[in-house]
Amino acid sequence: MLLIIDYGSQYSKLIARRVRECKVYCEIIPCDYSLEKIKGLNPKAIILSGGPSSVYEEDAPTIDKEIFNLGIPVLGICYGMQLMSHILGGEVLHLSKHEYGKTELNIDDKSDLFAGIIDDITVWMSHGDSVVKLPNGFVRIAHSGNTPYAAIADKEKKLYGVQFHPEVVHTQQGFEIIRNFVFNVAELPPTWNMKSFVEESIEEIRATVGNEKVLLGLSGGVDSTTVAVLLHKAIGDQLVCMFIDQGFMRKDEARKIVTLFNQNFKIQLIHIDAAKNFMSKIENVIDPEEKRKIIGHEFIHTFETEAKKLKENIPFLAQGTLYPDVIESASSSASKSAHKIKTHHNVGGLPEKMNFKVIEPLRKLFKDEVRLVGLELGVPEAIVYRQPFPGPGLAIRIIGEVTPERVRIVQEADDIVMAEIKKAGLYRKVWQAFAVMLPIRSVGVMGDKRTYLSTIALRVVTSEDAMTANWAHIPYDVLGNISTRIINEIPEVNRVVYDITSKPPSTIEWE
Ligand code: XMP
Repeated sequence: MLLIIDYGSQYSKLIARRVRECKVYCEIIPCDYSLEKIKGLNPKAIILSGGPSSVYEEDAPTIDKEIFNLGIPVLGICYGMQLMSHILGGEVLHLSKHEYGKTELNIDDKSDLFAGIIDDITVWMSHGDSVVKLPNGFVRIAHSGNTPYAAIADKEKKLYGVQFHPEVVHTQQGFEIIRNFVFNVAELPPTWNMKSFVEESIEEIRATVGNEKVLLGLSGGVDSTTVAVLLHKAIGDQLVCMFIDQGFMRKDEARKIVTLFNQNFKIQLIHIDAAKNFMSKIENVIDPEEKRKIIGHEFIHTFETEAKKLKENIPFLAQGTLYPDVIESASSSASKSAHKIKTHHNVGGLPEKMNFKVIEPLRKLFKDEVRLVGLELGVPEAIVYRQPFPGPGLAIRIIGEVTPERVRIVQEADDIVMAEIKKAGLYRKVWQAFAVMLPIRSVGVMGDKRTYLSTIALRVVTSEDAMTANWAHIPYDVLGNISTRIINEIPEVNRVVYDITSKPPSTIEWE
């Protein structure tokens, strides 16, 4: 394993993804881990991430000097490089010339970290401090206009530092630089793949669960479906899946999930049709946070009640937790106390008081790896590549009051949006495409008659990770087809508008 020590960089997850793309397993740990704990993880290489601190600040995060004497190859990125230089006797200074954004880098040594890289590349810099004197044993391997030591190395000890960010796409050949560290410097074998992950997971699940039963809450998305199929492969009918239909799914989706599980996978599925119950709880609720909370609580309540009804003794609860959630919960208190924008509700968030022993077979994986596992296990592509769908479902795409009729309207509109986006070959090119029902009516004219009907807003965004998003510049004829079909096929609607805001300042969902 390669270990990434996180000094608070916004790019740490990206570093991890790049390393995993090299087929090398890696984990991110917070920078306050002790030397003993780090040694206990037995890393074969270490990357020190960037971070917002300066090495001379009081309480600046650091690392035990001994780490550099263990014979483990280390790559320091930005703050990581400054910290390594500082600890090993170099000098770091806050210079008047800072570098932010794209910078030209001149490479001085192409023997290992920069093997196969062209002479001058554009790299992404973001630093105020610079290394101005190298520690003993180090040489310069690249420089830039403002930074004499833009990349440095102690080749004997396999310690490397780069002042720029090879992990971001703005750095030309950045992925190759990371590959070079992983393969040329650290000489790690590319053995991490999803086939071996599945095999190892099956063994692990069997060892943990024995002959006991496991309950899994199913949402129909890629994570919970993949967990279900993986568990079923490991323990067969010891797996009991529960699918709570709150009535805010897409058109026909509940039926499709039940068919897929019962007929294709032959996995035991308990289908709880709780639509009426959820609707009665949410009647007259307009406030978005209130809606989210009510649906979240009701979901947990239904799950608890139904789980109790199951006569068998089920000690285990499986959840589709992914690696980014694991990193998040292990991260520093500063990032945990971030301002709450929306209360997210997921099938995974069931309460601890239920006294289940929790198993999380996907906790080591990033989303794109879960997709590969899904494909490996025969999960249909329609689920593997399904666009993200919020836990509270269409209820938060109906602005204002949620009624059965408005759910039906937004389901119809969503169905048309999906069909047209797929027909235009855009489904996998955009992050999400969906319809939002607005709480207003407006005047129109149809067949010479005045109408006074509802408005549907169309939202299509591109994004890498949902943290930021752009409205998608989809072709006018696709917009036109969607609008025409919605108006022609949904009698309650006489107007369609396109949402042209990015995130920020908007969010992707309207509530
Ligand atoms: P926002 O609206 O915050 O959404 O920009 C970011 C991404 O998260 C999805 N989303 C949710 N996903 N449970 C989920 O699993 C939720 O409660 C939830 N709310 C929003 C949203 O669709 C987008 O992809």
